[in-house]
Amino acid sequence: MTYRRDGEKGLKMPEDKIPKITIPYLHKKKQQGEKIVALTAYDFPTAKIVDEAGIDLILVGDSLGMVVLGYENTIPVTMEEMIHHTKAVVRAAKRPLIVGDMPYFSFHMSVDETVRNASRFLKEAGAQAVKIEGASQKRLKLIETLVEAEIPVMGHVGLTPQSIYHLGQFKVKGKEIEEAKKIMQNAEDLEKAGVFSIVLECIPMELAREITLKRNVPTIGIGAGPHCDGQILVFHDLVGYANGYLPKFVKKYVDIHGSLNKAIREYIEDVKEGTFPDDSKSYHLKKKEVLEQILEKKEKK
Ligand code: KIV
Repeated sequence: MTYRRDGEKGLKMPEDKIPKITIPYLHKKKQQGEKIVALTAYDFPTAKIVDEAGIDLILVGDSLGMVVLGYENTIPVTMEEMIHHTKAVVRAAKRPLIVGDMPYFSFHMSVDETVRNASRFLKEAGAQAVKIEGASQKRLKLIETLVEAEIPVMGHVGLTPQSIYHLGQFKVKGKEIEEAKKIMQNAEDLEKAGVFSIVLECIPMELAREITLKRNVPTIGIGAGPHCDGQILVFHDLVGYANGYLPKFVKKYVDIHGSLNKAIREYIEDVKEGTFPDDSKSYHLKKKEVLEQILEKKEKK
């Protein structure tokens, strides 16, 4: 059995007995220089595997729209879809901190509607926090209001996919000085507004390092190099679920698409050839009389 430290209590306990991951525990990890490992998940079986593997934080990301629901970008994702999938993840994952991603237009209309939508992630779906993209002055005020309403918020700067129509395409942000300064300021403002952590997406690693050193809350990088306090990837990218384009920063650990494709082709062949199901995968009548009666009926027909 493997043992590790429980950062909160300073006790040693078996890996599978470690209680629910909390925000103070993640903060402690930053202070102790221990990496935070995060991953997205959108359904029950995936969340179960992710939890069992020992991930600290699950983000039910609005990337759901692209990798699970087949939308072109994250814009069409609705609150109902996010709540539906977050509930499934919460039912499966017991140990990781679960963060629900606020979808496009769930926090753009009014403060009241934003608080109501964010609270649904906690009250209805059972998540422990929400994530919001961006750090405009208006966004910072919203975040302050959410934190005041006891809703923990994760910030998200650098490349913010919900701004796709402004950006035109997904590309690295902060390569030039003005944009780099703005992202640094964004991270500082987010910390002041009360976020418990900040996602840094697609920014140069030198910039991510500087932000990570300056900030007290943990930075979670995706395409932001090795110096962040933690890392996150989209589950489907990590396991090679789709066989299309993958950004440079993704490391594909397994080719699930290839394995599934192979398995399904074998199944098709087995069924066509009659080798599945065979005797070992079939049920049998136990009583001889039942068989005789069935055969008799068949003969009478
Ligand atoms: O929606 C998502 O999966 C995200 C991560 C890429 C951070 O926002």
